[in-house]
Amino acid sequence: MSILPVSPQGPSNESRFDEEALDYIARSLESQGYAIVPAALAPELIDALFLEVKSMSGAEFKRAGVGRKDDFQLNRFVRSDKICWLRGDTAASGAFLDWAEKLRQGLNRRLFLGLFDYECHYATYPEGAFYKKHLDAFKGQSNRVLSTVFYLNPQWSPGDGGELVIYDESGEQVLEKVLPEYGTLVIFLSESFPHEVLPAGRERCSIAGWFRVNNSSALLPDPPR
Ligand code: OGA
Ligand code: MN
Repeated sequence: MSILPVSPQGPSNESRFDEEALDYIARSLESQGYAIVPAALAPELIDALFLEVKSMSGAEFKRAGVGRKDDFQLNRFVRSDKICWLRGDTAASGAFLDWAEKLRQGLNRRLFLGLFDYECHYATYPEGAFYKKHLDAFKGQSNRVLSTVFYLNPQWSPGDGGELVIYDESGEQVLEKVLPEYGTLVIFLSESFPHEVLPAGRERCSIAGWFRVNNSSALLPDPPR
């Protein structure tokens, strides 16, 4: 008979899953620069985010633009989605930001990326909307390091369009075409992968986000977005 106390349960199923998911994402980022993760969040959280985005009124969404601050412009030829930034002031958005914080810490621990914070918005693409090929960050000019897109579209089928197309660094070769399926997360290095959203055949909802490094200095304060 062992004199050692019976070992406690060890990590809960949930945290063991988190660690495995983090390992998978870190390994994929290391080997290919992106990861595609089906069923990335707890089912209850996916449902809560879905209900939240579907219950929001049109007035809460703004036409998405291109560029930041002084560079910002609305350009309906580049993108035609509508966005609403998550503030963490509801149970669902708070839980999503908590999850992003765990992801941030887990990836920093594994890959030493120095990720500093995270910003994200709901995006809705009305039928016919798209986002032409673009980069989320230009080399050396942005503090966006890792892009995330999380999809909230039950029963999305190939005929519905709206795929995320990920290109290689040259922008010429297609690496992946991802259906925006309920619960799927895509995460990629912001400076390395041009990507686009093909026209959606029906309303397409997602949460797009960016992990950033801190570029602030006393001379150039770094605003949250
Ligand atoms: C973006 C973006 C991709 C997607 O918002 O910058 O590229 O699949 N989104 O929604
Ligand atoms: Mn993008």
